[in-house]
Amino acid sequence: MTNGKIKKIALLTAGGDCPGLNAVIRTITKTAIHEYGYEVIGYVYGYRGLYQNNFIELTEDKVENIHKEGGSILFSSNKDNLFDYLVDDGNGGKVKKDVSYVGVENMKKEGVDALIVLGGDGSLTSARDFSRLGVNVIGVPKTMDNDLPATDLTYGFISAMSVGTDFIDRLSTTAKSHHRVLCCELMGRDAGWIALYAGLAGNASCILIPEIPFTIDNIKKHVEARDKAGYPYTVIAVAEGAKYADGTKVIGKIVEDSPDPIRYSGLAAKVADDLEAVIENHEVRSVNPGHIIRGGDIDPYDRILAIRFGVKACQMIDEQLFGNVVTLKGENMTYTSLEEVIGDAKFGKQKHVEPDGELVKAAKSIGVCFGDE
Ligand code: F6P
Repeated sequence: MTNGKIKKIALLTAGGDCPGLNAVIRTITKTAIHEYGYEVIGYVYGYRGLYQNNFIELTEDKVENIHKEGGSILFSSNKDNLFDYLVDDGNGGKVKKDVSYVGVENMKKEGVDALIVLGGDGSLTSARDFSRLGVNVIGVPKTMDNDLPATDLTYGFISAMSVGTDFIDRLSTTAKSHHRVLCCELMGRDAGWIALYAGLAGNASCILIPEIPFTIDNIKKHVEARDKAGYPYTVIAVAEGAKYADGTKVIGKIVEDSPDPIRYSGLAAKVADDLEAVIENHEVRSVNPGHIIRGGDIDPYDRILAIRFGVKACQMIDEQLFGNVVTLKGENMTYTSLEEVIGDAKFGKQKHVEPDGELVKAAKSIGVCFGDE
């Protein structure tokens, strides 16, 4: 079934990778070819590929069996914003310029009728700007952090929290043998979803998240209470972006040129040091799985979500619902305008764990400490 107007579509993956991107690429390619008879190309390295007109043809054999592979067969870049792009200044230096028109011309040259962008805040901001230039754009949200208000869930979150759960499970057995306190750092940027879900699923008795500031003293009391109760070991799930009650956070690196330059890393190590300095009878250690929770095979549930997001993106092209992002609301695949999604991001509106919400209350009911009391 096709509306006859669209003949060729392009897709690209931009920003950091996320479990499920390949599964979405596969779905879009198969649906576009089978259901709508479109030709499909994929720009490589995100928007840089669009600028350089560097693409591959996406055919069924190229996407065969990539439904569970992490990463992106189209590669990705989290730096190349064509509306503010670093180019040679003609004097041996570099200067930032708006080169979006090159991208638009390249699409025209290749006969691309619509562009699907698989990206987070930064990449979808460019998608919105291309849409404002008259390009037929559909966004497919990509964040394993689960922090996008417009959608109930995106592919990637379940995979990341499943791997995080495995880490917590494994740390529990060894923490128990040595009566240690083990802190496990989990990604998620400024939202605590991954640490909260992995911590709860893995039975971490203490969970630190950005939404609930903590003190070392409260964690110490929790560990001592466990000692007294006959559980002389504790596993702490630490969201990388969590903060001390005095506002202290730990930044691992600043990546200049990135739309979101702050990279958190090192909080679990600091919590371990600070706790060990005040607690008796326990060695306190930390691990930081970092990008491991982003790689490897993806969770079966995310494979299904990827099918739903990809099929909806193709339907939206057929129905010419351009300038929108595919979203999931309750049981329904639907869409939200790029303007609204980017407006939320611009005004710092993210989906956060509710500190007094049902899940945190449930966790507290079973004795989980968040370091706030
Ligand atoms: O947004 C996904 C995410 O993995 C965050 O959880 C993490 O803080 C960040 O990206 C890491 O980014 P990078 O791969 O650029 O270091």
